[in-house]
Formats: sequence, C-alpha cells, structure tokens
Amino acid sequence: MYYPDELIEEIRQKNDIVDVISGYVGLQKKGSNYVCCCPFHSEKTPSFSVNRNRQIYKCFGCGEGGNVVTFVMKYENCTFPEAIKILADKAGVTLPEVEYSEEAKKRETRRQRLLEINKEAAKFYYVQLRSPHGTRAKEYLDKRELTDETRKNFGLGYAPVRGEELLAYLRSKGYTDDLIKDVGLAKIDEKRGTTTQFWNRVMFPIQDLNHRVIGFGGRIMGDADSGPKYLNSPETEIFDKSRNLYGMNYARSARTGNIILCEGYMDVIQMHQAGFTQAVASLGTAFTPGQAALIKKYTKDVLLAYDSDGAGVKAALRAIRILKDAGMSGRIINMQPYKDPDEFIKNMGKEAFQDRIDHAENAFMFEIRMLEREFDLNDPEGKTNFYNQIARKLCEFGEDVERENYITAVAEKYHIGFENLRKLVVNTAAKTGGYAVPIERPKSGIQSKNTPEENSKKAQRLLLTWITDYPQLYGKIKQYISPEDFTFPIYKQVAERMFADIEAGQLNPASMINMFTEEKDQSEATSLFTTKLPELENDMEREKAFHDILISVKRNSFEYYSSRMGVDITALNKVVAGKKALEELSKTHISLK
Ligand code: UTP
Ligand code: MN
Repeated sequence: MYYPDELIEEIRQKNDIVDVISGYVGLQKKGSNYVCCCPFHSEKTPSFSVNRNRQIYKCFGCGEGGNVVTFVMKYENCTFPEAIKILADKAGVTLPEVEYSEEAKKRETRRQRLLEINKEAAKFYYVQLRSPHGTRAKEYLDKRELTDETRKNFGLGYAPVRGEELLAYLRSKGYTDDLIKDVGLAKIDEKRGTTTQFWNRVMFPIQDLNHRVIGFGGRIMGDADSGPKYLNSPETEIFDKSRNLYGMNYARSARTGNIILCEGYMDVIQMHQAGFTQAVASLGTAFTPGQAALIKKYTKDVLLAYDSDGAGVKAALRAIRILKDAGMSGRIINMQPYKDPDEFIKNMGKEAFQDRIDHAENAFMFEIRMLEREFDLNDPEGKTNFYNQIARKLCEFGEDVERENYITAVAEKYHIGFENLRKLVVNTAAKTGGYAVPIERPKSGIQSKNTPEENSKKAQRLLLTWITDYPQLYGKIKQYISPEDFTFPIYKQVAERMFADIEAGQLNPASMINMFTEEKDQSEATSLFTTKLPELENDMEREKAFHDILISVKRNSFEYYSSRMGVDITALNKVVAGKKALEELSKTHISLK
C-alpha cells in the first residue's frame, strides 16, 4: 500500500510520540526527556528515552530507536503501512481507499471468498464441538487437559461424522461446491460427488499472522480409529505450508525475545496454555527456510522443542541447519524423559519446563553430542573418526573468536587437549580448504575491536548528530562537506535530506525517519541523530571535538574515493576537491556559536 508522503507526515505529526508511547508503557519525565525500561530488550534500569521536542525515541541499551511510526511497527510487530493505519485511526485521519487494478481486484475478492469459507467452516466446527454431536470430541479434549479458554483461544472444533452437514451449511451461505473444493474442504469426483475432507475429527483451524483461517488440521480421537492421526488441508491459493507457522499469530506478540519451535499442534496449544505463548509449530511438514524467514522478523533466538525420539532428533538437526543458513541461532530444549512438550508439561509442570528452557543446549554442542552417538568411543578408530568429524565441523566457523570458543568448549566437554584439538582443526582446514585458524590464540575470549568501517560509520553518525544539535553549524561547514562524504547509503540519504531541510529552515529529524519504511533502516537513521556526543567541559573542547570529527569524516571520504579512483573520473574530481577541503579544514577554526 502506498500513501503520499504528506499524508504520512500529517499522521506522524498528529500522533505525539510521548502520548503514543505512554499508551503502551509507563513513561517517567526526566529532564527534557521521558524514560522507562526498554520494551524491546530486558533491563532493570531505564535506558529507553523519548524526546518530545524531536519526536524521537532511542534506547541507549540496545540501540533501538526511531519515530512514532517505528515504535508502533516494532511494538505491534507490524509493517509500515499497518503502523500508519493504526496511527491514522488513533488520530482520526481517514486513509484513502486502495485502488486496485481489475485483475488484482478479482484476485483479492477470490482470496477473500476463500478465507470467508474457512471462517464459516471454523464456526461450524466450533458449534459442533459444543453440540450433542461433539460429546466424544469434548471428552477427548478433556482427556488432553485443555481448558475452555484454550479451546476458545485456538478455535478448536469438531467435524461430525456426516460430512453432508458442513456442505449443506456452506451451500446455504452461498458458496459453490467448486469454491469449497478449492479451499481444500471437499473433494469432487464423478462417482461419489462432493465429499468433505474432514469427518469425525477434532479440528484445529490454522491461522495466519492476522488471525485469518487459512487451513485446518484434524485429529482422530484415540489411536484405534482408521486413517492418519492428523489430516491437514492441502496447499491452496491461501494456504502455503512453507510460509506459515501454527501459533505465530499469538507468538508474534509474546515479547519473550525468543520463539519456541516444536512439531505438533498439541504441543503449541499445551505450551500456550502453560504461559509459553512464544510457541509455534510447522504445519504437518518439515521446517522450511520460508518459516525461518518468518520467525526472523521477530527474533533470531529460536528454541527447539522437538520430540525426543530418533525422528525428532533428525528433524531438529535439519532445523538447526536451516536456522543457521538464515543467520539465526538455535538452542535445544531437552524433553527427556518425555516425548514432547505436551507430555512434559503435563507431567512436570511449567516451572520445570521453564527450567529446561533456561538450560537449553547450544545447537552446535547438540550436533556434536548427536554425532557422538554414531561412533564407538571405546574403539580407538571410532574415537579418531569422531574427533576428525568434530574438527571438520569446527572448521565451518568463519569467525576466529567463535571458532576458538567452540574449540575450548568441545575440548573441555570431550576431554580432548585444547592444543591437540586445535592442531587437528588447523590440519583439517588446510586439507579441506576450510577457514584458516589464526596462529595466536586470542588472549581474552571475545575481543571486539572496532573495524575501520565501524570507526568511519561512527564518525559520520557523530557528525550528523552534531549538526542536528547545532543546525547553525551547517552554514559554516557546507563549503567543506557534502552528502557524498557520507559513504554509507542510508547516511548519505539522511545527510542529503538534512542539509536540504536546514537550507529550507525546517530541520525535523522525526520526519526524516519516514524516508525509510523498513524498521531496521528507521532505527539506523535514528542513530544518526542520537549518537551520544562526548560530554565536554567547555566550548573550546567541544569545538575541538567537532573539528576532529569533521576531519575524520572528510579523511575517510577522501580515502574512500581514492580507493575507487580507477573506476570513474568523477571520483577523481571528488578526491582532488576532498583533499583541498581537508587541507583547508585542518587550518580553519569553526566556532559552535
Ligand atoms: P506427532 O505424531 O508427534 O503428534 O506429530 P503429536 O503432536 O504428539 O500429537 P498428539 O499429541 O498425538 O495429538 C506431530 C505433527 O506432525 C503432523 C501434525 O502436524 C502433528 O501435529 N502429523 C502427524 C501429520 O500431519 N499427520 C500425521 O498423521 C501425524
Ligand atoms: Mn503429543
């Protein structure tokens, strides 16, 4: 959905950031700011700060920041247009109707129709469960210890033995058999006519992020009945199994900072009932990269609560790979001695489950432990092979520090000498072409020295923050500095806009943030106005600091374009001009006043 910039700006201005954020969290006035504990990471002392003048918020703990739109996107876990809609509603601004092409309109109406059928079917099943027909299903859910609230929350239902009833109900609502078939609720064949997909099963409606029913899972009651234990809707135009997750409509707003991924609908439901509302499951198929991408919008920290049997371990190992490829970390919840989260929680309770979450095993260590099972460690050859496999896996870490940390952890756990294991990793890397291992072991575990790139980013950020704080500076430095000196795309865009706004006498950081519609970009843009400036005693020191930053940005830009000089001639011009500006600048005093 596209809204004109002026409209977005109007909506932003009509939603005071302090008022809006106060509606979500308790803010306290502190100096010219309002503060509270950050809702986006866990902390005990408030480092989340909202500034009314600038209409910007920023957390100095986790770095999260933005304007009122960013906050709503982040807090509600929604997209930019969705946030605009929420804020427009709050401010009483009417948004223009969407204009679709004929083609798109048709497609949209068809999708709507299919979704409506599912909604009607879910309603029908829901009522059936609560009717005399549903007695057995009710008893089944009693046995599984699901409360009424839980049944309601997940919209559980019952598909009666006679499929005719659902068909009659849907037809009475005006849906054709073809549509009912297309949404996966019926099959049509010549001999038997239209028959329903589900009968005599407990029904689990599968919802998308917006609580719309996109498909169903149906479970037989007890184990003796015929047919598969769970039957699911087939994939349809509205049901993409590889891009949806059961329970995600609730888990997205769980605010636990992690997601628990499990295998079954029942597991999800049982976990939610026990308060673990961050639980989700794949939809009767294996976990997919599309589902990893979905989770990654909310968190990178995924806890795996897969079955403890052989198939479950295999599925977990696959999921770990998929998570890793998506740049996410996995931790494994130990379910022993029970089979799955459902059984674990019923037998051990939620405190015990929380304890298992707290002690979840790192994915790499889990992989190694599972690998171990394949070897006979009493046999010297088995042992050697096991160690070689470990070394191979350790070679996969591209980061020196990370790899070294894992070598330490594995060496300790399996009682292998650290140096021996390390040598083995180096040799394996040499043989297989894996990442080279540094000769020197880092002295103090994790070291985070800034890279030159980080340093130049920091200088560019500081400069833009200085200018935000002292817009009058721009006039004094504009002969030396231009948006091109900001060598990172977002920085350059912000600088361009900032300088133009200052020229026009209307600098407004909060409005600049809306140049970007991605939350990540908004947060990054915010950091350009909110980087912590050094606390300096007097104007002389401040002027010196500012001068240093200016020179640093200019020098970086000079180096940046020099290194690209071979590529094009305009770069050469920039270099020459940049060099001159740099020389002049180093001799010039710039007063802050
Ligand atoms: P499980 O067999 O582990 O069942 O299947 P469960 O979750 O423990 O279920 P309960 O506790 O016996 O009710 C896990 C998931 O695999 C899919 C379903 O999505 C199920 O939730 N599955 C399983 C099927 O799609 N079809 C089947 O026949 C079995
Ligand atoms: Mn189960």
